[in-house]
Amino acid sequence: MEAIFKFFIAAILFATFIAKGNCQCFPVNITVSQVKTGVLVQNKPEWAVTVSNPCRCVVVNLVLSCSGFRSVREISPFVLAKSGDRCLVHNGYPLGASRTFKFSYVWDHEFPFKPVSLYASCP
Ligand SMILES: *[C@@H]1O[C@H](CO)[C@@H](O)[C@H](O)[C@H]1NC(C)=O
Repeated sequence: MEAIFKFFIAAILFATFIAKGNCQCFPVNITVSQVKTGVLVQNKPEWAVTVSNPCRCVVVNLVLSCSGFRSVREISPFVLAKSGDRCLVHNGYPLGASRTFKFSYVWDHEFPFKPVSLYASCP
């Protein structure tokens, strides 16, 4: 009987731990995927970028590392604001839980965007 009781306590503690884990959101959770669209601008390929927030949290002030980032087609700073090695996504606006934000750029090669910081508001 006591063993069963202990098992339930352990199960509840474990479930709480898992739930807490899912209710946090870190830069490592945010995914950035890129594909060539097939469009060429001044002979350079266009890249479509999808930033996904898989968390159950609203993310604001998402910043990507974007060292050396350039685009033949100008990108509004409202979409991606580059400052040094960092790029602020969508003016820091909220990216909802399970939502994506998309933008595109034009350059010879793909830039490896990496999420470096964000503020998460979790339920
Ligand atoms: C976010 O990443 C942490 C650490 O890798 C992980 O424990 C957690 O489950 C992730 N959350 C989501 C929603 O993917």
